[in-house]
Amino acid sequence: MRNRSVGWSTGIALALLMVIALAFGSAVHAGEKKQAPQDHNKKASEEKFMDWGFGLFIHWGPVAQIGKEISWPVHDASQEFRDKYFSLYKTFNPVKFNPERWAELAKDAGMEYVVFTTKHHAGFCMYDSKYTDYDIMNTPYGKDITARVGQAFRDENVAVGWYYSPSDWHYLYKTGHKGKYDYGMVVPKHTKPYGTHNLTLLEYERKQIEELLTNYGKTEVMWYDGNATGLKKHTWKLAPDVLIARSVIKTPEQKLPKKPLEGPWETCMTMGRQWDYKPNDNYKSVTQLVHNLVKIRAMGGNYLLNVGPKPDGTLPEPQVRILKGLARWMKTNAEAIHGVRAWKTPQEGDVWFTRKKDRSAVYAVMLRWPEKSRVMFKTLKDVPVKSVRLLGMSDELEWEKGGKGLSVHLPSAKPCDHAWTLKIVPREQE
Ligand code: GLC
Repeated sequence: MRNRSVGWSTGIALALLMVIALAFGSAVHAGEKKQAPQDHNKKASEEKFMDWGFGLFIHWGPVAQIGKEISWPVHDASQEFRDKYFSLYKTFNPVKFNPERWAELAKDAGMEYVVFTTKHHAGFCMYDSKYTDYDIMNTPYGKDITARVGQAFRDENVAVGWYYSPSDWHYLYKTGHKGKYDYGMVVPKHTKPYGTHNLTLLEYERKQIEELLTNYGKTEVMWYDGNATGLKKHTWKLAPDVLIARSVIKTPEQKLPKKPLEGPWETCMTMGRQWDYKPNDNYKSVTQLVHNLVKIRAMGGNYLLNVGPKPDGTLPEPQVRILKGLARWMKTNAEAIHGVRAWKTPQEGDVWFTRKKDRSAVYAVMLRWPEKSRVMFKTLKDVPVKSVRLLGMSDELEWEKGGKGLSVHLPSAKPCDHAWTLKIVPREQE
């Protein structure tokens, strides 16, 4: 009896517990259902991105063989030219492709992330996609270039990002569109079957994004060049920590903004005049590029500087020289570029300021070497200075604080070229 009565109460208790558990479970379930899909970059991903500050953009594809701009020549071209452009992959064979070298050059130049064109507007896939034959596996080269790029850069501790164009002009070509091709294509509108699996354009691109985010190691940035409707939430669903650059954050192209923008933001720029390889291109000087980098960082942005490899897979010599020049400057000055944020004032004449994220130092980068050895910085008037150093020299500099500002006594020899950085360590956090 006793046992039975125990059995009864235990039974009732168990039944109650089950009811509670079920109710609780379905409440949790309902809660999960209610949670809206992620529709923004996570704060932590933004912070990481802003810390990197400087990245390498790579525009490459079979088009390098004709030395013209990537994709754009087919935008409004004759059928004959389009036939020619879309056949270029049949002869693409970059036998000297050596991404380890690119990654090494980028790392030395202080670049902390890379963004590689996996699929540009003209739709060619620089990776092994099972949803199309218009990809690297069907070239004479026949090996997965994107996989090698990812591996090589990660090995150098450079974060990896993929450029992916939602506009797909090969889709338009294959589905019979004549006339001008559309840059800002609303992908979900295109329902004609495409690719080896006969998918709509939206299905096709979602599948490809799945491939890029799952088969190629850790992806930290996606760079959607165009209207990414239908792709962004899908991206964050698969990889919530990915930072989506263009199509979410501001990405001024080939120019610097006039004033600081709300972060994170990124200027992308070519070293020469074209995104992909252009024989005998006209290049900017290392001084110009260093100055851009400094100004962009002082305004709170990132600088994504582009290279365009040759058809054989090597980087053009002038681009290598530029990367080496940047490396020499960064060797001395990197700490004023990495892990910094915009300070209260970006600029005083030729001097641009950044501040370490943890506020442990303010950097005053002089874009011109002053003629006099005593220089006055009005903007630093209120900083409670503990010490002042010139990056590249070990001794502390003499300085004085007066009503007008901070006056610093500079040495006669310059420790580097292009631009010079004073590191001002405050006595306490100002
Ligand atoms: C533009 C161009 C494209 C290039 C991109 C890089 O959107 O259409 O060719 O890849 O800029 O920022």
